[in-house]
Amino acid sequence: MTTPVRVPLVDLRASYASIREELLAEFDRVLGEMQLFLGPNVRAFEEEFAAYCETSHAVGMSSGTDALHATLRACDVRPGDEVVLPALTFFATTEAVIHVGATPVFADVDPETLTLDPAAVRDVIGPATRAIVPVHLYGQPADMASLLEIAKKRNLRVIEDAAQAHGARSLGQRCGSLGDAGCFSFYFTKNLGAFGEGGCTTTNSLETAERLQRLRNHGLETKHTHSLVGHNFRLDELQAAVLRIKLKRLDEAIARRREIAARYDEAFAGSGIRVLGRRADAEAAPHLYPIRVADRDALGVHLAAAGIETGIHYKVPAHRQAAMRSQLHRCGPLSVTERTCDELLSLPLYPELEDDQFAYVVERVLEFSGESRPSARVRSAS
Ligand SMILES: Cc1ncc(COP(=O)(O)O)c(C=O)c1O
Repeated sequence: MTTPVRVPLVDLRASYASIREELLAEFDRVLGEMQLFLGPNVRAFEEEFAAYCETSHAVGMSSGTDALHATLRACDVRPGDEVVLPALTFFATTEAVIHVGATPVFADVDPETLTLDPAAVRDVIGPATRAIVPVHLYGQPADMASLLEIAKKRNLRVIEDAAQAHGARSLGQRCGSLGDAGCFSFYFTKNLGAFGEGGCTTTNSLETAERLQRLRNHGLETKHTHSLVGHNFRLDELQAAVLRIKLKRLDEAIARRREIAARYDEAFAGSGIRVLGRRADAEAAPHLYPIRVADRDALGVHLAAAGIETGIHYKVPAHRQAAMRSQLHRCGPLSVTERTCDELLSLPLYPELEDDQFAYVVERVLEFSGESRPSARVRSAS
């Protein structure tokens, strides 16, 4: 292949183009009615998303961060409690724990799947531990069988950070339906993304859902009556309208994500490019496609020169962030996390990725890693 193609990390224009007419008609309807918050679209979306996640309830929120924050509160995580979580995650997971006044306790991740290592979790649990927050990172479910067993034995709450895992399954169940509650982000690049901010909590507990409904709306019990000091964490009607349209196409989009991830796995097998290990008891819904290479920065420069955009998820683990210097926290040994953060590079993965773009990315990556005949490895992604 000689002609360089520009390959973005995600292509939101293509995503918009595919739903433009339906979306504009819906926006016109919402704006015509001028009911902008907690109206019919939010209610319908909550029902549809709960059905999709196979939970009894879904409560729309203003973002994934706010969903995590409110859900920790709704699950009675309080100041003085400890919450076990990975340090290899977006910083929001840690922020939510700090926002409720609890102490983050970082446990290491499994070297293959990069999700919480249950043995590491067991080692950091102490008398003040109140909850575990497994992160289904990159759309790959954490080891829920082991984590749920630990939580049951120690009487801990499990709040899944499913911000990157819409549509994934673990033990046959949807992510977000296995623990006490699941928190989703609808940040625009996610598997299910709004065109703005949004989030949601799923749960099978009516009590948790009702607390969340009050917490997201200033603690309002009835009009003029605030029974809790809450937040403004409401999902707006325009974003709910976007999400309803995109939810109908989510399974198709995830099928394409899975197909591309499988073709990347196949193309890199035996090449020295390390890919994510896949859990046998889970069905990932790939959100990002991270590879692990010793010379990550040089590969990033090589790909950028070829017009290929990459990302790093994540470069600095949570416990190493400057913000944590002034925050109470505890860490178990984090050698896998620290080593991995120096090696990660995310390649383009999105449903609209074209076959020639996919083939071009694989060729340029293998060229960097010294593969002599990269084209022999590349199979079309369709
Ligand atoms: C793992 C994880 N947790 C939490 C969040 C926070 O979600 P939001 O950006 O919607 O606040 C994100 C998204 O960016 C995330 O990737």
